[in-house]
Amino acid sequence: ELKENTIIIVLGASGDLAKKKTFPALFGLYRQGFLPRDVKIVGYARTKMDKAEFDKRATSYLKNPNDDPEITQAIQQFKDLSTYISGSYEDSEAFANLNAHLEEIESHYKGPEANRLFYFALPPSVFVPVAKNLKEQCYVTKGGGVNRVIVEKPFGKDLDSARELLSSLKQYWTEDETFRIDHYLGKEMVKNLLVLRFANVAMGAAWDKNHISNVQITFKEPFGTEGRGGYFDEFGMIRDVLQNHLLQVLSILTMERPVSFSAEDIRDEKVKVLRSIPPIAREDTLLGQYVSANGKPGYLDDDTVPRNSVCPTFAATTLWIHNPRWEGVPFILKAGKALNEAKVEVRIQFKDVTQGIFKDIARNELVIRIQPSEAVYLKLNAKTPGLYTRAMPTEMDLTYKRRFTEAKIPEAYEALILDALKGDHSNFVRHDELDVAWKIFTPILHWIDGKSGARPRPVPYPYGSRGPKELDPFIQKYGFKRANDS
Ligand code: BG6
Repeated sequence: ELKENTIIIVLGASGDLAKKKTFPALFGLYRQGFLPRDVKIVGYARTKMDKAEFDKRATSYLKNPNDDPEITQAIQQFKDLSTYISGSYEDSEAFANLNAHLEEIESHYKGPEANRLFYFALPPSVFVPVAKNLKEQCYVTKGGGVNRVIVEKPFGKDLDSARELLSSLKQYWTEDETFRIDHYLGKEMVKNLLVLRFANVAMGAAWDKNHISNVQITFKEPFGTEGRGGYFDEFGMIRDVLQNHLLQVLSILTMERPVSFSAEDIRDEKVKVLRSIPPIAREDTLLGQYVSANGKPGYLDDDTVPRNSVCPTFAATTLWIHNPRWEGVPFILKAGKALNEAKVEVRIQFKDVTQGIFKDIARNELVIRIQPSEAVYLKLNAKTPGLYTRAMPTEMDLTYKRRFTEAKIPEAYEALILDALKGDHSNFVRHDELDVAWKIFTPILHWIDGKSGARPRPVPYPYGSRGPKELDPFIQKYGFKRANDS
C-alpha cells in the first residue's frame, strides 16, 4: 500500500539516468495521481547548482510538445514539491546535512510516521559509500515508517564482484529494504508473459519440449554507443543486456507456475529454472562488433572507445535448460547495437506438424513483441478461402494499439517506482536470482575478457545491418526455420 508522509530522494540527481528516466517517471506518476498526496522529492548530487538550474535539468525530458496548459501547470507543481541539495558521496557530514533537510520537511507532516525512498541514479563506484552514509545519517525511524533503496545495474562484473558488492550493501540495507531494478520487468509485455502463460489453457498446453522447437529472445537497437563508449566498453553487450534484461524475460517465459502471485513465490520459480541452466558454452556464442557503413561511424571510430577494442556490440548465446519441460530446446538470446531497427521480441517456434496430409507447411510461431508497438501474434496455417483445399500461412494478431485503442501503456520506470513505493518486490531482482544469472554468464565473460587466454575477436557487421552474416547459420544450427525455407 502507498504510504503517506513519503520523501523520494534521488541520488545522482544531476546525471543522465535521473534526467532521462527517474524524473520523467516520477512526473508521470505524479500527474496520474499515483504518488502519495503529500510526496516531496529531493534531489542530491555533487554538482553545485541553484534550484532554478536543478529544475531545468530535472524537467528537461518532460514532454509537453503542444504547450498544453494542464501539463505546464503540472510541471510547475512538480517543481514546487522538489528541492535540491548538493554534497559529496563519500562525506558523512554532507549526508547529515541532507538528513537535516529531510527532517525539516518531515516536521510539517501530519502524524508521526516518516518514510523515505532512496533512488540510486549513481555510478557503481559510489554505491557502497552512499549506502553506508544513507544508513548511518539518513535512516529514519520515526513512527515506524520504512526506508527503501532502489538500485540499478551494473551489479558487479562477474560472479565474484557481484557477490562482493551485494555483501557490502547487505551490511547496511536488508533484502526487504532493497529494490534491484531491471527495468525490463516493468515493461507491459514482460508483465503480460505471466498472464499469457498461466491464464490460458491453450498456451500452457503447448509450452514444452514436445511442441516447441526453439525460442529466440531478441534485442535490437538502431544506434551505436554514441558518446557512451567509455561505459559500454567496460561492460559489453552481454553484461549490458543479455545477463539481465533478456535472461529475466527467459526466466519468466520458462519457469513453472508459481503457487501464487506473491513476490517470493514468483522469484522462487525464476531462480529454480535459472539454476537448471549450465554456463554458456563458447561454441554456443557468436560475437560481433559494428563497423562503419552508410556514412555512420564504426564502434572503433567512437572517440570514447579505446583503440583496438574487441568489446562485442553484438552477442548471440544459446542456453539450455536441463529440466523435464525444456530438455533439448535451444533458447537463443541475441542483442546488438547499431542494427537495422529498434525491436525487442520473443519468438517461439513450434515444431513441424507430423508429415502426412500436409507437407512442407510453415511452422507455427508465437511472437511477443515487447517494443515498439506491443503485440502478440500467432502465425498459423489456415485454408485459403476458395473452392479448393490449400493451407496458407496467416496470423492471429493482437496488436495493442489496434485492439486496446484507449489504453495507455505505462512506462517501465513508472510501474517499478510505484511497486517500490508499495513495497512490492515481485518485479525486482532478488539476490539469488542475480547470483545464478552471473553463474550462467561468468565463464563466457571471462573468456571474452581474456582471463583464460587470447581474447576472442568479434566478427564485423556493418552499422545499420541485420547483424553479422554468421547470424543466420548460427540460428539455423539450432533448428530455426524461416517460414519461406520450408
Ligand atoms: C539499458 C542498457 O539497460 O537498457 C542500454 O544499458 C540499453 O544500453 C537500454 O540501450 C535499453 O532499454 P530500452 O528500455 O530502451 O529497451
